Amino acid sequence: MGFATETLAEIGPGSNSTLAFDVARVREDFPVLQQEVHGKPLTYLDSGASAQKPRAVIDAMREIQETCYANVHRGAYYFSQHLTDRYEGVRKTVAAFLNAASDQEIVFTRNVTEAINLVAHSFGNGFAAGDEVIITEMEHHANIVPWQLLRDRAGITLKVVPIAEDGSLQMEAFEAMLSPRTRLVAMTHTSNVLGTVNPMKNIIRLAHKAGARVLVDGAQSAVHGKVDVRELDADFYAFTGHKLYGPNAIGVLYGKAELLKEMPPFLGGGDMIRSVSFAETTFADPPHRFEAGTPPIVETIGLGAAIDYVNAIGHDAIAAHEAGLLAYATERLQQIEGLTIHGTAKDKAAIVSFSLDGIHPHDIGTIVDREGVAIRVGHHCAQPLMACLGVPATARASFGLYNTPSEVDVLARALEKVKDLFG
Ligand SMILES: Cc1ncc(COP(=O)(O)O)c(C=O)c1O
Repeated sequence: MGFATETLAEIGPGSNSTLAFDVARVREDFPVLQQEVHGKPLTYLDSGASAQKPRAVIDAMREIQETCYANVHRGAYYFSQHLTDRYEGVRKTVAAFLNAASDQEIVFTRNVTEAINLVAHSFGNGFAAGDEVIITEMEHHANIVPWQLLRDRAGITLKVVPIAEDGSLQMEAFEAMLSPRTRLVAMTHTSNVLGTVNPMKNIIRLAHKAGARVLVDGAQSAVHGKVDVRELDADFYAFTGHKLYGPNAIGVLYGKAELLKEMPPFLGGGDMIRSVSFAETTFADPPHRFEAGTPPIVETIGLGAAIDYVNAIGHDAIAAHEAGLLAYATERLQQIEGLTIHGTAKDKAAIVSFSLDGIHPHDIGTIVDREGVAIRVGHHCAQPLMACLGVPATARASFGLYNTPSEVDVLARALEKVKDLFG
């Protein structure tokens, strides 16, 4: 996976060109990357939190607002029908992106957090005291708190799969946790802190064997490589637009048609009903049953443009580019004395969390910012994982398709400055 060693050597540290695609050319698509911060070129290494947007996304969102904006699913007039077609067209784009069997399996949400809450409320509606949901130590709060709320409502038992030293999942512990009471395994595909990519196909196979369904939090995965929900046989798969070079306030929940069909509504209101009287309301079929109120119309169009953009570059090219960046960043940062990388699993996305001996991550973040370097510092919405790692916080560099090996060098030099300052 990624750059072959000779390819990396060919590129060499400090080079901006990769063989996967022309990253210099790609960077021109992202207006924000042309900015300076504190008089230094912006080195944006926080795509794991939210990715920058290409001009194609910005333009698509502006274009509909300038030329044909209207509400969707409501008007008999041209603009409303035109925009409804485009909005529903994005549902098809997303279905193809995930290789779903049908666009009716694609529910638009505000983000992955809302998608998980939807499943917890609606699919979890049938869970009873003693039923079990399995999560892992590496989950984002978005995939912990909704299950704790369900535990408080319904008396379910929450089980947590431990991680190994290298940040990979302890698969034997997971297998041992599966029981006839396991209703759902809710698990991140890729850890936003450790970068660990979980062996999701195998996890889903084992869960299904035990009679459990699986919800995959794909917030960090849909970005880095091809996701095929049918190949995975995922029951639910959630991702979020703003990490995929699209806008914020738009997310996606994929759900198998047979499951969505049986699930009660999450939110009630306009657009999700078949008929309403004061005595009784009947509900629309999925996916509209789960899309109450005016949806994020402009953002959905932006998401469609983002997926088109990613598809045009190609998943394999992006994955190869990012694997090369990960290999180089790991090698370069490991050369810094006193630096510890958290998460060294074999299968890993381009996310590097680290600590510097004796220096608080917030100090690291503040000082590298003066060099124009944007990294995330803190608990990364994964406080239980921080407790497992025995640290209050980490610093994290996360890479996207527009990052370059020379930006890794900029980060490494900035970290050396941090060390010099703290003696
Ligand atoms: C693994 C993971 N899950 C869930 C989320 C939540 O995403 P959102 O805030 O878009 O709902 C994130 C965001 O960082 C994440 O990394």
